[in-house]
Amino acid sequence: MINLEEVAALVKKWAREIGDLQKEKLAKKNFKVKTKSTKTDLVTEIDLLSEKIIREKIKAKFPQHNILGEESHYTDNKSSYTWVIDPLDGTNNYANAYPIYAVSIALKKENKTLMGVIYLPELDEMYYAIRGKGAYKGDSKIYISQKSELETALIATGFPYDKNDSKINNLAPLNIILPQLRGIRRSGSAAFDLCSVASSRIDAFWEFKLKEWDYAAGLLIIKEAGGEVYQTEIEQSPLLIAGSKELVSKLRQKIEPIYINT
Ligand code: IPD
Ligand code: CA
Ligand code: CA
Ligand code: CA
Repeated sequence: MINLEEVAALVKKWAREIGDLQKEKLAKKNFKVKTKSTKTDLVTEIDLLSEKIIREKIKAKFPQHNILGEESHYTDNKSSYTWVIDPLDGTNNYANAYPIYAVSIALKKENKTLMGVIYLPELDEMYYAIRGKGAYKGDSKIYISQKSELETALIATGFPYDKNDSKINNLAPLNIILPQLRGIRRSGSAAFDLCSVASSRIDAFWEFKLKEWDYAAGLLIIKEAGGEVYQTEIEQSPLLIAGSKELVSKLRQKIEPIYINT
């Protein structure tokens, strides 16, 4: 049996070590940047190095566990446990020295996320949650915002890497929803956005076409902070909406039909 409190303590230590390394490398700006699926989809040497380090740490401690990471193959050891890691969430920000990026690490058993840790190196903020045990920023419990009206809500979103070529991008929903909100934020890191919802500095979030590593840790942190998460598939891509029950339901009513009918 795994002791999740002990595992979370260890993973927080790993996330901080990797975050410190990312911050140090960014300060020196000595890393290479390459493109992946599109010219806006980047990977830096530091994404790859961070993933390698996390994988090695997991493998040394839990050799039987599966690992799904953004930057390398899926290691399937047929275990019921799977680690889902985004070694550096916010690569475009990082490559531009824009200081919003994150290390995101989650552990699942079958389909249930048991634990999630997100570290924001430049803000020195550590978020984590264990299933059924609440969500924390540092040592303090965190809770989502209680706002229920779109007109007073500050909402975060993002744009997929195929935004320039795909007709289902985020522009049509944004066009409809923006005039109804207090404000929109696009941080460039879904992990940052999800922690911001969990700790109520953002009232709700939606994004289309995120990958499991972008949201595995963040969604558990939101749920444990009392938030609601709506997840659906449209043309095989996930649409995620998170926040208070009322805001999720209102956003869903406005946004989902636009994605479906585009
Ligand atoms: C991206 C960020 C961004 C989101 C993109 C993600 P990456 O992750 O989370 O905020 O809008 O959809 O792919 O590639 O920087 O790890
Ligand atoms: Ca990501
Ligand atoms: Ca990433
Ligand atoms: Ca990426």
